[in-house]
Amino acid sequence: MFVPSAPTLSDARFLPVEKFSYAYGEHQVLYDVELELHREDITALIGPSGCGKSTLLRSINRINDLVETARVLSGTIRIDGVDIYSPEVDVISLRRNVGMVFQKYNPFPRSIFENAVYGLRVAGVTDRKELEEAAERSLRLAALWDEVKDRLHEQATGLSGGQQQRLCIARAVALQPRVLLMDEPCAALDPIATARIEDLIAQLRGQFTFIIVTHNMEQAKRIADKTAFFYQGRLVEHDDTLEIFGNPKQKLTERYVTGRLV
Ligand SMILES: Nc1ncnc2c1ncn2[C@@H]1O[C@H](COP(=O)(O)OP(=O)(O)OP(=O)(O)O)[C@@H](O)[C@H]1O
Ligand SMILES: [Mg+2]
Repeated sequence: MFVPSAPTLSDARFLPVEKFSYAYGEHQVLYDVELELHREDITALIGPSGCGKSTLLRSINRINDLVETARVLSGTIRIDGVDIYSPEVDVISLRRNVGMVFQKYNPFPRSIFENAVYGLRVAGVTDRKELEEAAERSLRLAALWDEVKDRLHEQATGLSGGQQQRLCIARAVALQPRVLLMDEPCAALDPIATARIEDLIAQLRGQFTFIIVTHNMEQAKRIADKTAFFYQGRLVEHDDTLEIFGNPKQKLTERYVTGRLV
């Protein structure tokens, strides 16, 4: 079973990816990825299209298990000491602890309130007061409360794109996950909505371990503590964001972050 126990391991060992190789059918897309993610850090995954960023991200809550041909070839991903691919792991519980926000905001076609409390409903909570408190808490955490508090029972799809994405973040944080995965969370948003999501991530820093895929180098610089650069399914370099952008050790990284690698 996936047990979100009280933190027991040192930060450096919170989320180690070890020799992780992955394929779709016969097509290998990740090769021996070694990455140690620290508790409560914000880590950006960067690299050219098709290098495996989403595949790695989606392996961390095993949402990629839904792809029929997808398979782990070797290696492990651990979260606080638990090998998430071991047979005893309860995948539903894992996904509750490892939330995910997608590029295309995807609120359910229900009210704002129902989206905010979705996780609690699934967990069987029916007490009205508890649900109302949880909705307010998660909408406040997602910096959306003031904009929606008078229209909680309206359709979520009537919100602006940026608001819908913040609602998706509210839905994810309502479950109090340990880890939040975000796959290009601002790619469908305009610059103002993007700035609000970045502010929100900065506000939430320290409450969750964030792993964020982005094609936006400036965004990685603004929000990430650490950055991991991937190329053709391999991790090339993982370091403090300032180092990756200011003093990369690998030539490939330098070419990518300066826009000379296509
Ligand atoms: N469901 C799938 N079935 C088969 N192959 C897939 C599937 N998803 C991804 N791939 C392949 O795996 C490789 C890595 O894809 P992935 O989506 O992880 O890359 P990415 O770095 O997220 O790219 P992008 O920046 O374009 O989103 C690519 O060669 C892609 O074609
Ligand atoms: Mg992707």
